[in-house]
Amino acid sequence: MENNSKKVKYDGKPLEYDFDGIKELNNPIPPWLVYLWYISLIFSAMYFVYYHIYKLGDLQDAEYERQMAKAVTSVQKHHEESGQLNMVILAGDEDMADGEAIYKEKLCATCHGALGEGNAIGPNLTDNYWIHGTGDVASVFDVIKNGVPTKGMTPFKDQLSDEKILQVSSYILQKLQGTNPPNAKEPQGVLVE
Ligand code: HEC
Repeated sequence: MENNSKKVKYDGKPLEYDFDGIKELNNPIPPWLVYLWYISLIFSAMYFVYYHIYKLGDLQDAEYERQMAKAVTSVQKHHEESGQLNMVILAGDEDMADGEAIYKEKLCATCHGALGEGNAIGPNLTDNYWIHGTGDVASVFDVIKNGVPTKGMTPFKDQLSDEKILQVSSYILQKLQGTNPPNAKEPQGVLVE
């Protein structure tokens, strides 16, 4: 009987056997790599138990949500301290009614249509196409406040307080956006999805 348990020497030399003339070199995995592998096995087992079995830590999504919530609170706090308005869409019935009244009284309707459908002067405010910004409340607010005088959009900063501009911005985003009024003007600007 041949002795197969002969201790193999890891020396990078060809091993004794060959197969169709192919020889295998004796190149063992270096010990540090083997230990790294053991460590990563142990780490992944601990990770699995911690995050997936006992659910002790936040996974990516939860951590993202938590950090965003924290950021929103700190932005709000900063705005309160500096007396700035929070750029959040208002949704209350009163704000919607005020927004609609402003839309009518300030002649927005003259240039943008009673239903926001747009006309020969102003763009459609009901579609998802925006010339300025991406349909977020801050860009809408900014256009209304500062206007686009060269293009015929009146700046309203001298006529409306920031709060009123936010109300009419919210009215556009909550009540006009997404409606499909008759005689809607063709899209202008960039589609925001
Ligand atoms: C004298 C006409 C006129 C009046 C009045 C007017 N707008 Fe405009 N508005 C325009 C024009 C023209 C544009 C397009 C500007 C451009 O092409 O850059 C515009 C653009 C806008 C935009 C940006 C649309 C986009 O696609 O980016 C918003 C929002 C807007 N107006 C809201 C209002 C609101 C709210 C009022 C009333 C408080 C109002 N506008 C009053 C003519 C008017």
